[in-house]
Amino acid sequence: MKYIPSPDRYTTKSVGYNYCGKSGLKLPKISLGLWHNFGDISDQDEARKMLHTAFDNGITHFDLANNYGTPFGSAETNFGKFLKSDFASYRDELIISTKAGYFMWDGPYGNWGSRKYLIASLHQSLKRMGLDYVDIFYSHRYDPNTPLEETMGALSDMVKQGKALYAGISRYPSEKAREAFRILNANGTPCLIHQDKYNLFSRDVEQSIFPLVEEQGIGLIAFSPLAQGLLTDKYLEGIPKNSRAAQKTGFLLKNQITPQIIEKVKKLNDFAKKRKQSLAQMALAWCLRDSRVNSVIIGASSVEQLKDNINALENLDFTDEELWLIGEIAGSN
Ligand SMILES: NC(=O)c1ccc[n+]([C@@H]2O[C@H](COP(=O)([O-])OP(=O)(O)OC[C@H]3O[C@@H](n4cnc5c(N)ncnc54)[C@H](OP(=O)(O)O)[C@@H]3O)[C@@H](O)[C@H]2O)c1
Repeated sequence: MKYIPSPDRYTTKSVGYNYCGKSGLKLPKISLGLWHNFGDISDQDEARKMLHTAFDNGITHFDLANNYGTPFGSAETNFGKFLKSDFASYRDELIISTKAGYFMWDGPYGNWGSRKYLIASLHQSLKRMGLDYVDIFYSHRYDPNTPLEETMGALSDMVKQGKALYAGISRYPSEKAREAFRILNANGTPCLIHQDKYNLFSRDVEQSIFPLVEEQGIGLIAFSPLAQGLLTDKYLEGIPKNSRAAQKTGFLLKNQITPQIIEKVKKLNDFAKKRKQSLAQMALAWCLRDSRVNSVIIGASSVEQLKDNINALENLDFTDEELWLIGEIAGSN
């Protein structure tokens, strides 16, 4: 059936937008990531419906990487099919990102941060998605064995050639991120955004990356804001069959779901109920409480989860006392 986006996606239904750092680009407060649940092993009808639901609610940013999906690359290929069938007329309303930095193909040129790998990989990603350009091209991780000038030079050249509109970096240690920002500036292709893990259980970046991006006017986007599903009510009664932790291909490991973690999750779940929110909603609102977090990239395995998460935006306010108590329960103050 032909997909017609909601006419209310930028008004009554919109998730709303934040500027990405000091740039002129706005990102939706909630972005959708295609790491899991969009590959060939996933339910394609549900994947398609999730993309529709996202866009219907003003989610304009879709985050990918070369190796997303099982098998690697299949999330981009499937996304490309949906782009062609459903979103072809809306390309200019979308921010599509991809990355290279982790293992993608055999041999010496399919991993890390060389110019050879990054440029070959972006060409492959464009082909898989059927695009002329992506909006953001990221170096997915810092490579200690490649000069930063080489990795950043590859990003800059992709921007200069119009194959990416903006350059970004992900998971860089702060001192290397600072250096990367300097090189990208010198190349005339400033870094748009830093992408890093941030959630109630994982707050290291508050000390390292947050002050740096603020000082430099770079955007910040948080990935795994639900700790891959731990910060939801999903694992309260064990590990459900259909969960990421139960899947062989999932990145959430069963041994990460310890009794100690579940004890905390139970208390956080009770706390969220008092705020009349689901735990997922409270966890997302908590990330967005800091104005340096321009957007959270969520994952979802169903339309129902996606809708639950979008509703987080109905209550983003916390008192100082609430924030302190939540941090105490999570053990992350
Ligand atoms: N730059 C990087 O290195 C990097 C690394 C990781 C992720 N990312 C990006 O960040 C995106 C999000 O990462 P993530 O998938 O780990 O994010 P997440 O939002 O922390 O976890 C998503 C998972 O949580 C569960 N979930 C989501 N909403 C729920 C709800 N309302 N109720 C119950 N369970 C819910 C689902 O798991 P089930 O499948 O079990 O239902 C879902 O797949 C990725 O797709 C990717 O784009 C980037």
